Amino acid sequence: MAEKTTNEKSAEKVSRRGFLSWAVLAWIGFTAAIGGCVAALNRFLFPNVLYEPPTTFRVGLAEDFSPGVVDERFKESNGVWIVNSNGRLYALIAICTHLGCPPNWLEAQNKFKCPCHGSGYYKDGINFEGPTPRPLERARIFIDPDDGQLVVDKAQKYQWELGQWEDPESFVEVS
Ligand code: FES
Repeated sequence: MAEKTTNEKSAEKVSRRGFLSWAVLAWIGFTAAIGGCVAALNRFLFPNVLYEPPTTFRVGLAEDFSPGVVDERFKESNGVWIVNSNGRLYALIAICTHLGCPPNWLEAQNKFKCPCHGSGYYKDGINFEGPTPRPLERARIFIDPDDGQLVVDKAQKYQWELGQWEDPESFVEVS
């Protein structure tokens, strides 16, 4: 059998090299496709959902809330302040009625102040400064007859301008 010439040998090397690079490219493409499928499957199995705290929750017994105090324990977790003022307990919703920022309770100034555009509210939620057109809203609050605990239900809201703050479920009478 005739021996291969140098040219034939180098042509063979080139085509083997060409095949290898195609194989590597194909393998990379295949791996990328599998990776994409796995990512899509993960997205499907674990979708990006926002955690929403429950709208109904317990806040404790009425005697846990001292007269004249704005209780901030439930602002971060549930978005309400529990206020004990003038013989009534109510749940003020911590959303500014201007454009929806969360206001802060300023104990020293005895008012709620919104950091976004400066709206201010008295302890009872009535607005008195800044651009907001109306008071804060209140959530339904009632005593569970089974265990005497206060329950707040944010799904039911009460607005001062609609005369709803006199609704018996917008506050709990305390002595
Ligand atoms: S959002 Fe509160 S003042 Fe504008």
